[in-house]
Amino acid sequence: MLDINKIREQFPALSLKDNGKQRIYLDNPGGTQVPIQVLDRMEKYLIHTNANHGGPFRTSIESDEVLDEAHKAMADLLNANSSDEIIFGANMTSLTFSVSRSIGRILKPGDSILLTRMDHDGNIGPWLHLAEDLGLNVKWLKFDLDSYEYDFNEAEKIINEGDLKLAAINYASNCLGTINNVKALTELFQKKGAIVFVDAVQYVPHGPTNVQDLGCDFLVCSPYKFFGPHQGVLWGKAELLEKLEAYKVRPADNFAPGKFETGTQLHEGQAGTLGVLEYLNWIGDDMAYEYHMYFSELNDRSKNLHAAMYAIQEYEKTLSNRLVSGLKNLKGVTIRGISNKNDFSRRVPTVSFTVENKNPEEITIKLAKNNIFVWHGHNYALEAVKLMGLEDSGGVVRIGPVHYNTLEEIDLTLEVLKTCW
Ligand SMILES: Cc1ncc(COP(=O)(O)O)c(C=O)c1O
Repeated sequence: MLDINKIREQFPALSLKDNGKQRIYLDNPGGTQVPIQVLDRMEKYLIHTNANHGGPFRTSIESDEVLDEAHKAMADLLNANSSDEIIFGANMTSLTFSVSRSIGRILKPGDSILLTRMDHDGNIGPWLHLAEDLGLNVKWLKFDLDSYEYDFNEAEKIINEGDLKLAAINYASNCLGTINNVKALTELFQKKGAIVFVDAVQYVPHGPTNVQDLGCDFLVCSPYKFFGPHQGVLWGKAELLEKLEAYKVRPADNFAPGKFETGTQLHEGQAGTLGVLEYLNWIGDDMAYEYHMYFSELNDRSKNLHAAMYAIQEYEKTLSNRLVSGLKNLKGVTIRGISNKNDFSRRVPTVSFTVENKNPEEITIKLAKNNIFVWHGHNYALEAVKLMGLEDSGGVVRIGPVHYNTLEEIDLTLEVLKTCW
């Protein structure tokens, strides 16, 4: 079980106060705070091993060792087959733009791609540009406005229309909080030969991710959403990474990950990502031992990381429960996502809501005055907000706890919300 006090002690930002008022970070779907292990790794990197890649001298050799270890640790977090399948980059959006160009080289005019109305624009915009450049057909998968889940019948209908070469879907929605059945969807799309590209930016901070079990072809995530520095990570199946031509300069590696890691990378960011994985490894070792048996087939670090994420997921269900039931008790609130307690295993604790006749921005401003940080608007889930008919009314208020948040923080937030309308 998670020891939340011990966990919070690892995060210097969590104890900060402004004018005597504690900060309450519920803006986490936009970016999380970092533990001391991240800061230590970044500082150590910049003081002791700051160098470019591939030199025969001490700093460069040690720098390469850190980068190598960061790739290996990320492979363990995602249960990738090999660390060569892990590609670091600036962020999820840049990596997706970049690899979408490479995927475009194996597509032809008239091919179809599937995008969804639930996705963040980071998993839509790059594909729309590609479709425009190549003359691809774009097919849209909706979500059901009652269940807030993808409509599988519609997915099957799209598949049966033929020519589907790629499906870009999300693991967890940054707006609705829904966790999607990526494994089943992947099977469905791959049966007809489509490449499955999964945006896991909002899932990885909240649960164990196993790319081999999901069976998808690509999966992207962003360390800054799971307590690390501002970085992006793309995982791809080795055979696809090998087959795809990368947009790269000539002297760069001709094999993955190097061929997709363009230019000089943010080495200190990779070091910091290693730091966050050391932090999660500590949770797995120290507080999640009872879950190791669920991951017995994994190597020791991978087992620790997956058990840590499982423990985090279990704890976060209590946060979802307190937040959703508290919001339900407030007059005029509509929760824009799964709100039945029995279905909380199908949601992350990111909860979006609207209030009758109330602008979402006014609510976040009121919360901000109480040092409670939350987001409002569409949060780049443009299609989802449009489908729900909320585009012209300012979108939603989004409260996004993670494992370092407490039930007390949720209660305090609900207390302030009571005074907002
Ligand atoms: C679901 C989802 N996908 C993609 C992104 C974009 O990530 P990045 O900032 O790493 O490009 C975000 C950012 O909020 C997101 O929530």
